[in-house]
Amino acid sequence: MTPVNRTTRAARFAGMLTAACAALLLAACGQQPAAPEGSAAGAGADAPAAGTGAGEVNLYTTREPGLIQPLLDAFTDSTGIQVNTVFLKDGLMERLGAEGERSPADVLMTVDTGNLLDVVDAGYTQAVDSDVLEEAIPAHLRGEEGHWFTLSLRDRVLYADKDLELDGFAYEDLADPQWKGRVCIRSGQHPYNTSLFAAMIAHNGAEATEEWLRGVKDNLARKAAGGDRDVARDILAGICDIGIANAYYVGRMKNAEEGSEQRQWGDAIQVIRPVFAGAEDGGTHVNISGAAIAANAPNRGNAVALLEYLVSDEAQSMYARANYEYPVKAGVELDPVVASFGEMKIDPLPLTEVARYRRQASELVDKVGFDN
Ligand SMILES: [Fe+2]
Repeated sequence: MTPVNRTTRAARFAGMLTAACAALLLAACGQQPAAPEGSAAGAGADAPAAGTGAGEVNLYTTREPGLIQPLLDAFTDSTGIQVNTVFLKDGLMERLGAEGERSPADVLMTVDTGNLLDVVDAGYTQAVDSDVLEEAIPAHLRGEEGHWFTLSLRDRVLYADKDLELDGFAYEDLADPQWKGRVCIRSGQHPYNTSLFAAMIAHNGAEATEEWLRGVKDNLARKAAGGDRDVARDILAGICDIGIANAYYVGRMKNAEEGSEQRQWGDAIQVIRPVFAGAEDGGTHVNISGAAIAANAPNRGNAVALLEYLVSDEAQSMYARANYEYPVKAGVELDPVVASFGEMKIDPLPLTEVARYRRQASELVDKVGFDN
């Protein structure tokens, strides 16, 4: 029996109790009557009732168990709420579609703005009004009416040979002829890159972005392929001098065992957080990990409680230390390696705005033959 099946039955049973209570007298059933719609306290039957079991919450996530489980265990320790997790490698959309209104999912958690917007646009999420979430998460990093929330940031940065002297860097500089034959990057069609290129379109327009992409392509030291860590590997090997990749991999590499291959790659590079120079108020491009409350969440109150916990100082510092992601909440202590990259000025462009250009970005990658 899967946890989900068990929960479905439990949820139905709770639903029957709720109906019975409503027919009699709410207060007698130990529930808070008429809390405002959309608030955590307004979860009614789903809210943990004092003096009884705190209940459970059903989480669907595409994130790695090793990263997420410690956070969930800490949540259960602090609230008593049991988390039933379905770890999905992919197929979140298909699963939610197949389950329809009967889906037992309470919380949907994934990476990449595009993936989050897909579930929102398909109608699989609901609005959430939570002061805790709104205070912790800047407005440009959450969806309208609380349909999705960023939980951690994944900044897309410059890896540079540790001996290079660079005084700041703009994403636009990647196309500068001084870097001819010196740039490494993974496939232009990888979501990490299409998201960055989409942000470039949002800032500088499609025409300028196409020209920029041709310039970057001209500067490549090798085919645009492999993974983000290969940029560090190839800088160590002398194949390139700079490249673009996600910052958390550097946390992993520089914290790897002394003498290991990964550690040598990490030690060969320095990290610079580029900004968009073409924008008046440009910052560093980030992608995200985030979550939403499922449209028909049977344990809505506990679902909101889980999200609120995930932006607590405790959980945010676990994100920062377990996976070297950047906390979405300000003032949380960073992993020392991540802290060594210096202050981050996050690109203030709303992620929903950036996501709008992803398809166009992907078309430009093909048009300029970026991956050929
Ligand atoms: Fe990654």
